[in-house]
Amino acid sequence: MSKIEISSQAGKDFSGDALVIPVFSGRERHRLPLAISKVARQVMDEGDFKAELLEIVPLHHPNGVKDCRWMLLVGLGEEEKVTLNKIRKAVGAAVRFCLKKGWKSVGLLVPSTSNIDHDEVQESVLEGALLGNYDFSDYRSKSEVKRIERVELFTNSDDTRKVRRRQSIIEIGVAANHLVRDLVNMPAADMYPETFASKAKALAVENGIAVSVLDSEELEKDGFRALLAVGKGSSRTPRVVKLEYTPAEKPKKHVVLVGKGLCFDSGGLSLKDATGMETMKSDMAGAAVVLAATVACAKAAIPVKVTGICGLVENMPGCSACKPGDILRSRSGKTIEVLNTDAEGRLVLADLLHWASGMGADHVVDLATLTGACAVALGEGVSGVFGTDQKLVEHILDASARVGEHLWQLPLVEEYRESLKSTIADMKNITGSRWGGAITAALFLKEFVGESSWAHVDLSSVWAAAEKDFRAPGGTGEGPRWLLEWIAG
Ligand code: BES
Ligand code: ZN
Ligand code: ZN
Repeated sequence: MSKIEISSQAGKDFSGDALVIPVFSGRERHRLPLAISKVARQVMDEGDFKAELLEIVPLHHPNGVKDCRWMLLVGLGEEEKVTLNKIRKAVGAAVRFCLKKGWKSVGLLVPSTSNIDHDEVQESVLEGALLGNYDFSDYRSKSEVKRIERVELFTNSDDTRKVRRRQSIIEIGVAANHLVRDLVNMPAADMYPETFASKAKALAVENGIAVSVLDSEELEKDGFRALLAVGKGSSRTPRVVKLEYTPAEKPKKHVVLVGKGLCFDSGGLSLKDATGMETMKSDMAGAAVVLAATVACAKAAIPVKVTGICGLVENMPGCSACKPGDILRSRSGKTIEVLNTDAEGRLVLADLLHWASGMGADHVVDLATLTGACAVALGEGVSGVFGTDQKLVEHILDASARVGEHLWQLPLVEEYRESLKSTIADMKNITGSRWGGAITAALFLKEFVGESSWAHVDLSSVWAAAEKDFRAPGGTGEGPRWLLEWIAG
């Protein structure tokens, strides 16, 4: 994480590589600090910068900011339509621009607008900058870690108390986002059940979280037969990690988070095609989000007990692999006819959710890259949320809106339950219909949660092939920031 300084100045004394100046389109330029506005006004008057959202114009050796090599104008769009998320994204995109140049020291000007509370604007500028300060370069031979080392926030306000108070929680949320991106971006050759479990163990120990790892033998003893069946085709055997964060003071509630951790999903014997498999190292995003969120809650000392469960498995074809037609007796005792081994996430979650639901928690929330159908329905920028407890779903939706990550509720349509009926077992793992796949998958999970207050998040927004605003291509790191916001709230 970069070193952060917060100044109540307006920025013209900044010394460093680049000063980022967020600008509203239209009349805003007249309100920029005088020395800066001269140059900005010129490029705007000449039509070279319209301050459209995410538009960036770098200016070399600007007059007026004496020890700064570059000034970066970044557009926020119309002031009337500004949101905290637009500010995060614009600043993050500018920081990403600096990062690509290899610049190390960046100043950030907080824009002034009467449309949003100035404290929140300050926080969003800082948060956007930190979110944008990410690059995954571990696997390049000429790897130079590209990170901004120093960030100076120019608040142009005498009152910086709130942003200073919020700084640590912002840093914790961003670190969790970056951790998820790292875990998701890592190739499956290096990030498999055993290595994920040791990473989780190390992080837990570092942060005072109790941790236990169940290997296949222990899982066998404890009846996780559906989960184990998914891993049978791989030489990398499954692990289940249980993290327990207990706050020092009496916990206000107990939340169990359950994550799908398919370190690689080839589809198994119902093999995916080449394109379908390209991104399947990211099928452990749910587990990564659970790990990062639990660590974040511990770091922030949230007064809530958080249990994190990560189900880590590799889904591979092989001579011992689970076969279409197999019938599994899940941990709950319910039997499942497996007709497609690529619908494996729900098998893993069936056992984990049954376990989680017996923990007497106030809420159980699972996170899983469960269906392609959810991405078809909502696109890769929005994750789907389902639940048996409407209040819980609404709290989750509110939290995600506050941190600027998109979730959208989808319905648990009871009539569709019919389509999961098997002719020879209690249920089957696919419906045989192309339609409503995210919903029927969620209905399958619901069979294993008992009476829990439960929500299921189908994570279609954890991977994005294209580079966008403050994000490098690949893992987006979405999840832990809204979880932290919801759990702490
Ligand atoms: N991990 C996939 C879902 C997925 C696919 C997530 C693409 C993100 C991007 C899951 O295990 C899967 O393969 N689901 C199948 C279910 C089907 C066989 C009923 C799917 O969505 O095609
Ligand atoms: Zn699959
Ligand atoms: Zn999968």
